[in-house]
Amino acid sequence: MKALILVGGFGTRLRPLTLSVPKPLVDFANKPMILHQIEALKAVGVTEVVLAINYQPEVMLNFLKQFETKLGITITCSQETEPLGTAGPLALARDKLTGDSGEPFFVLNSDVISEYPFKEMIEFHKSHGGEASIMVTKVDEPSKYGVVVMEESTGKVDKFVEKPKIFVGNKINAGIYLLNPSVLDLIELRPTSIEKEVFPKIAAEKKLFAMVLPGFWMDIGQPRDYITGLRLYLDSLRKKSSPKLATGASIVGNVLVDETATIGEGCLIGPDVAIGPGCVVESGVRLSRCTVMRGVRIKKHACISSSIVGWHSTVGQWARVENMTILGEDVHVCDEVYSNGGVVLPHKEIKSSILKPEIVM
Ligand code: GDD
Ligand code: MG
Repeated sequence: MKALILVGGFGTRLRPLTLSVPKPLVDFANKPMILHQIEALKAVGVTEVVLAINYQPEVMLNFLKQFETKLGITITCSQETEPLGTAGPLALARDKLTGDSGEPFFVLNSDVISEYPFKEMIEFHKSHGGEASIMVTKVDEPSKYGVVVMEESTGKVDKFVEKPKIFVGNKINAGIYLLNPSVLDLIELRPTSIEKEVFPKIAAEKKLFAMVLPGFWMDIGQPRDYITGLRLYLDSLRKKSSPKLATGASIVGNVLVDETATIGEGCLIGPDVAIGPGCVVESGVRLSRCTVMRGVRIKKHACISSSIVGWHSTVGQWARVENMTILGEDVHVCDEVYSNGGVVLPHKEIKSSILKPEIVM
């Protein structure tokens, strides 16, 4: 089987992290977002992943080539010369996606995290005989997503409305699709949206089916959702009694610590924390609901909560970093400084406190 991952877009909502790498390469739970997807696709027998990309393909491919051999999967690029939206890239990659087999293929948004129940999805797709299957999930605030109105018993989709202004339902498009090659006949090679132009058409023909996604789901393309997504992801590891979760006197709740990271004496870490490779957490540090990416140093008695610390940054002694502070790559927060929701661009030194949420250029 084949899969296409939509990796275009500039990831502006996840700046400053996406100033250093394309959004799919931003680490989530200690590994780039897109690797979670590629590994799960591989596990259900996908042999080739096509990355639909509209800028910096070299950065992505250079990075992912090392995983081709490690994972035993082919990774290729389909590069747009102009952004083709969420459907146009499928028309562009048409030859890569269709073979003689007539097999369906997966399409994924690159910023969604879940347990990726692809096996269940393949079974669902076979069972309904339609042209396209999509995963849906329930959310409290559906207006920022694609909303699906479906027949509960069969999953047949009656209506698909992208980002509705008035309430139509609370089941939303999870950005995970399994499509028959015939769907490609509905897509022209031009900038076009699968949500606005393709799904409504297939739904009108009664050939679009939706499956309620088991387990957790989150679009992690925005900092607040990224932090919530980490909590849900770690919860699901806990439910599976995963040995990846850290244990010990200094750990509370669900915590991931890379094996190459070091934690000093008298720290209190958790809940919902990920500490990446090569990080040094000195003594007496308090971390909760946060992500600390590769190569970060947290000095003595610093306190970080509800925040993301980008690659190779340092947080000084007695510093306090909280309330959706996002430090870009290689940011240095001086000793005793306080950050309340600061969004700090890469390579900055923060010498005085950031008292209210603001962007520091
Ligand atoms: N190749 C390519 N070219 N990819 C693109 C382009 C493009 O021009 N534009 C967007 N993408 C990719 C993004 O990188 C992302 O992986 C995916 O398409 C969806 O774009 P987002 O910008 O993240 O859309 P959204 O989050 O507002 O809404 C989408 O996702 C929701 C679920 O998270 C829609 O699919 C909604 O219906 C859905 O509910
Ligand atoms: Mg998104």
